[in-house]
Amino acid sequence: MIKIMDEGEVAHVYWGQKLDHFESLDCKDMGKASGLAPLYRNGFSLGDLPQEYSSNQSTDFREPSYVVRSSSGSTMSSLKFKSHEIYNGKAALEGLPATYVDSDSQAQTLLLTMTDEMIGLEVILSYTVFENSNAIARSVKFTNNGSENISILRALSVNIDFVQREFEVLHLAGSWLRERSIIREPLRPGTKTIQSKRGSSSHQHNPFMALLESGVNEDHGDVYGFSFVYSGNFIAQAEVDQHGSTRVQLGINPHDFTWKLEPSKSFQCPEVILVYSCNGMGGMSRTYHNLYRKHLCRGKYRDISRPILANSWEGMYFDYTADDIVDFAGYAKDLGIELVVMDDGWFGNRDAHVIDGEPTSGLGDWYANKKKIPDDISGLAIRVEQKGIAFGLWIEPEMISENSELYRKHPDWCMRVAGRKMHPSRYQHILDLSRKDVCDYLSELIANILRQGPIAYVKWDMNRYMTNIGSAAFPADRQQEIGHRYILGLYGILERLVSEFSDVLFESCSGGGGRFDPGMLYYMPQTWTSDNSDAVSRVGIQLGTSIVYPAISMGCHVSAVPNHQTGRITPLKLRADVAMMGNLGYELDLGKLTSVDSELIKEQISFYKCIRNTVQFGDMYRLNEMSGKCVHGVQYISPDRMEIVVFVYMLQARPNSSGIRIKLKGLCPDGKYTSGTTSKILSASELMQHGLDVKLESGDHSSSIIQLSCCKTKM
Ligand code: GLA
Repeated sequence: MIKIMDEGEVAHVYWGQKLDHFESLDCKDMGKASGLAPLYRNGFSLGDLPQEYSSNQSTDFREPSYVVRSSSGSTMSSLKFKSHEIYNGKAALEGLPATYVDSDSQAQTLLLTMTDEMIGLEVILSYTVFENSNAIARSVKFTNNGSENISILRALSVNIDFVQREFEVLHLAGSWLRERSIIREPLRPGTKTIQSKRGSSSHQHNPFMALLESGVNEDHGDVYGFSFVYSGNFIAQAEVDQHGSTRVQLGINPHDFTWKLEPSKSFQCPEVILVYSCNGMGGMSRTYHNLYRKHLCRGKYRDISRPILANSWEGMYFDYTADDIVDFAGYAKDLGIELVVMDDGWFGNRDAHVIDGEPTSGLGDWYANKKKIPDDISGLAIRVEQKGIAFGLWIEPEMISENSELYRKHPDWCMRVAGRKMHPSRYQHILDLSRKDVCDYLSELIANILRQGPIAYVKWDMNRYMTNIGSAAFPADRQQEIGHRYILGLYGILERLVSEFSDVLFESCSGGGGRFDPGMLYYMPQTWTSDNSDAVSRVGIQLGTSIVYPAISMGCHVSAVPNHQTGRITPLKLRADVAMMGNLGYELDLGKLTSVDSELIKEQISFYKCIRNTVQFGDMYRLNEMSGKCVHGVQYISPDRMEIVVFVYMLQARPNSSGIRIKLKGLCPDGKYTSGTTSKILSASELMQHGLDVKLESGDHSSSIIQLSCCKTKM
């Protein structure tokens, strides 16, 4: 609920559970100045008004939603309501990823125009509500209607003021190999900030934040989620003010960001998806999952189950030839795998110069290395296809090695600050995607590779954070635009490629999950969740990821033991049971499997094929209440509620344990379910109220998957 105050100030009144009736809309006391508050007008201070979009230096000392510097040099500004419009549907955001609807009846959009007449600034706040979803998409567009340049120093996508509520904040933090741990902490007066300044959304913080009322758990309580549809630097803040009110903001990180807005030009901020849930964190997650699966991911793979893949990386690293890949494909096919991916190492002189195991050359030279792949990518793809299995390819097009033909030819295409020393990471630098010529070159180059042969899948990697941010193609007063221009350039390339190659399945990756964000999911409907493939670590990483992202978007692979990242030895059963919680794949040397393991993997794959639709398209319920018992669980139920799969993991043995009983969730209330392994028929109420008894082998690292189907039989 939004209120336009007497002099055009735009106040935020309410967001939450649907109200039957609302008496207080006159909102007489809103903005009434508290002690010592400077007055915006008589008796009224913006610092005391909950707002839709807060301004700078205009009697509100909390964080501004935007800061602009006008030609006078001043950063003072305030906005007044000018007009509004409501239309059915949702318009695309030019050049940016965004949620969409298939027909105009699925959403309604409000455009609220505000202006700062003195400097000719127009700000349009956009709100889309979706049919059957407790989600609101918000974004902001700035236009310079004046005759002088305006510098945008801060342009956030959302501002929400909650009046006098006590919250905890939940966010997803970590690092490379440790992405997206769930952090939950109380909010106290002051500002809690999470952010990325790394040029990508990052391993360290996901562009997401949620506020939880006290006592919220998986199933109960009010939760407000904020998820940013963007892949570059972001900021998410929750500020508790002097009166105990909380302001939440998300948007492009103002750090190292300034945008020169010339007269009659516009700047579009990316969108934030707001989700309200009165059904705890689980309710919020399912709303994000459904929305992102159906209204963010696009293309053919939105609605069809994803192939089980085998990736060459952990099994072979750089040490392979075309023949090895063809053999790999043969082994994979025998196991029931559907797609083989040739990872890093196939192009240019990639592994000719290695320091401490890291190749130092080749990125940028996207042609097959003739010594390793004599028949080119097209020849290899055909050979793999002849094995009866699809072929996929790894690329890292945003990067450039100093030791590459591309760098020698176009040193100015590398992102850099003139005259300053370059700072390599993994011996690589970043191509300057703020430049149109570089983007055109790259998209044409990749399109040519994809046109060559039957390539069914692309793993699009990006393995370093951004430093030395500068572009030879832009003047001094636009250098602070480069970080955002880079992301726009990347989105432009991806848009072109996914449109032309709509049959190709794209998976994004950034040192694992360093760019696992909704922006990337708009172009590539799945993401390699983490470079950590250890089953024990993966349980936490995948559950953390599931707070926002659906199972179908998470690449989850079974790898060899001892695990290459942690050295841990876990049973093949646990590794597969954990990987089946998402989008299953295998990443180990299939030629070296024992016959016992091969048989087990065949069984795993045929089992996953039976449950994959439920996992990939079903509703997910985290069964976290068991975590106190060292047991983690997750349940999926198919959209028609006929099929259920429950995953249970005991990562550490619990001595003197009394067994595990799990209450299932979300079942058809009068449904009767059978497990197939017993003749018992269990009612939904028994499963949800009494619970299901699960037997696990004793010892660390045990796991079980229980499959239940709804049958019509009466009790
Ligand atoms: C990144 C990816 C890995 C693998 C390597 C190849 O680390 O996350 O899966 O593709 O690059 O260099």
